[in-house]
Amino acid sequence: MAVFGNKNKTYDLTGIKVPVSLGVIMDGNGRWAKKRLLPRSAGHRAGAENLKELCRNCGNYGVKYLTVYAFSTENWSRPEDEVHQLMELFVEFFAKYDPELEEEGIRVRFTGDIASLPEHIQKVCKEGEERSMHRQKMQLIVAFNYGGRRELENATKLIATKVKNGEINPEDITEKMISDHMYLPDVPDPELIIRPSGEMRLSNFLLWESAYSELWVSETLWPDFGYDELTQAFRDFANRDRRFGGLSAKEKEGKA
Ligand code: FPP
Repeated sequence: MAVFGNKNKTYDLTGIKVPVSLGVIMDGNGRWAKKRLLPRSAGHRAGAENLKELCRNCGNYGVKYLTVYAFSTENWSRPEDEVHQLMELFVEFFAKYDPELEEEGIRVRFTGDIASLPEHIQKVCKEGEERSMHRQKMQLIVAFNYGGRRELENATKLIATKVKNGEINPEDITEKMISDHMYLPDVPDPELIIRPSGEMRLSNFLLWESAYSELWVSETLWPDFGYDELTQAFRDFANRDRRFGGLSAKEKEGKA
């Protein structure tokens, strides 16, 4: 039994096939705050705290790439106040928790339309990436000003420009080429996407990359989504029959 401890927590890997690449839609901060008669900003703050815990747990479980949805291209339509608070929380998160991320060996990267963000946010992204490049245990990929459709729009423009310049012909375009023009082509597609807070949708998260992702939804609001549920999600994932449009292993052997 592979069991190891970290900061008073025991990670029992028995029977758990941990996804190499995991996506998490951190939803439910607003409802969490409302239930406690707190402002929505308190919910986002609690959500950020929980993100730090998720990083530690995923790192210790052996996840290699954790992509979290922190701010979508649609989130600009929220009240100006809330958008401002989310931006400031973003700055604060890395200022406050980077030493812990360093201790945990967690490299930080960003995905999304980063170039359209305010200058000071772009600076946090650039510095965070540079400072953490040497960290080996896990990559935390923060989707910020991210939209799956925006990412596809961007990839399409890049490929169309190559066609226009005569570098490639339209018939050269393949799925692999499209994947190679996504924001972070070296990051494997998520094998599992977790969405707390009960909604059954992707909300424009990793549209291209999630083609064969397993989805795991829970009613728990994001700030309350902890180690036990993460473990349950991994256990369920380990029992999923992933066929990728083909047959299951049993079916191939003629046993099903
Ligand atoms: C969705 O919940 C959550 C967000 C739009 C923000 C997610 C941000 C964090 C968890 C913290 C920030 C992380 C970083 C890196 C700064 P919601 O507000 O839509 O909740 P609701 O559906 O209950 O209203």
